[in-house]
Amino acid sequence: MRILSGIQPTGRFHWGNYFGAIQQYVDLQGSPEDAFYFIANLHALTTVRDKEKLLAMTKDAALDLLGLGLDPEKATLFVQSDVPEVSELTWLLLTVTSMGLLERCHAYKEKKARGLTAEMGLFTYPVLMAADILAYDSDLVPVGEDQNQHVEVARDIASSFNYLFGEVFILPKARNLDASAKVPGTDGAKMSKSYNNTLSVFEEPKAQRKKIMRIVTDSRPMEEPKDPETDPLYLLYKLFASEEERAEMAALYLRGGFGYGQIKKALADASERYFAPARERRAYFEAHPDEVDEILAEGAKRARSKAADVLARAQEACGVSFKRETS
Ligand code: ADP
Ligand code: TRP
Repeated sequence: MRILSGIQPTGRFHWGNYFGAIQQYVDLQGSPEDAFYFIANLHALTTVRDKEKLLAMTKDAALDLLGLGLDPEKATLFVQSDVPEVSELTWLLLTVTSMGLLERCHAYKEKKARGLTAEMGLFTYPVLMAADILAYDSDLVPVGEDQNQHVEVARDIASSFNYLFGEVFILPKARNLDASAKVPGTDGAKMSKSYNNTLSVFEEPKAQRKKIMRIVTDSRPMEEPKDPETDPLYLLYKLFASEEERAEMAALYLRGGFGYGQIKKALADASERYFAPARERRAYFEAHPDEVDEILAEGAKRARSKAADVLARAQEACGVSFKRETS
């Protein structure tokens, strides 16, 4: 089964990115699955307009992903723009994509609703994402819930193409991690870099602790018993705690009479412990940049070879095929 996912290098990864997306990548790597994961720098170009920043963030994303456990022995890791076949495929897909389908997509709709002008890059963002998915004959796309709509669009576009030109593309399915579908941020809303409420995976422990201490808590008196499942602080703690620790903490909530400071401290300790091995792995790769370059080059080679096959199949099906050299 081919697993594929991409993540934008638009800022340091936060707990939402990890528990909503990256953890699934790690779980799904290794045989029998054939996993392809990439850093979506072409998608990032729709919002990042600073060359140095984009390059630095792409590099950071690679280090973060390797630190968090993506293993080049078990998965293919590459940078999106290293596979130009995907951009070529995007054009073929654009020719069968209706404007209406893209007008319904949330990123574009939201920007428009806020009265902002959108570039074609943002409007056609889901088509590039469809090409990412379809170029590798992907079956399953592990993503956070907010990306499900885009995977549906990829299915729609693949169906349209197949309807017109024959069975060229495999129809992909999204895969979400239910339990942590929405990781709350420090203000209780969904954790997102757009809301400035994130806790980053690789933040310095001291600074992170300060942020955790500032997490918004509810104002009910401490003596009052509370339902843990409605408290963002508990929901965050749950991500890192063992079954036993969770039960203990839940009991504390139900009994009442605790201070939030105590829970925040437990959360800071648990998260620090949880990410310590990742921090170490990341430091290793940061100290060995040549190794990282090699991993990405090897990944791109493997990805290109697959994408070239699928592109050729699509070109042939719609009558624009030509002989090409791929290296
Ligand atoms: P952000 O909202 O911070 O801009 P992205 O849109 O770049 O994050 O998301 C990257 C991946 O992480 C996506 O698959 C997305 O669904 C997932 N993700 C982001 N925030 C969360 C969250 N709070 N809970 C669960 N998954 C999330
Ligand atoms: N749009 C995704 C996000 O913002 C990133 C992405 C690009 C992606 N291409 C993809 C995810 C293909 C899965 C499959 O998170």
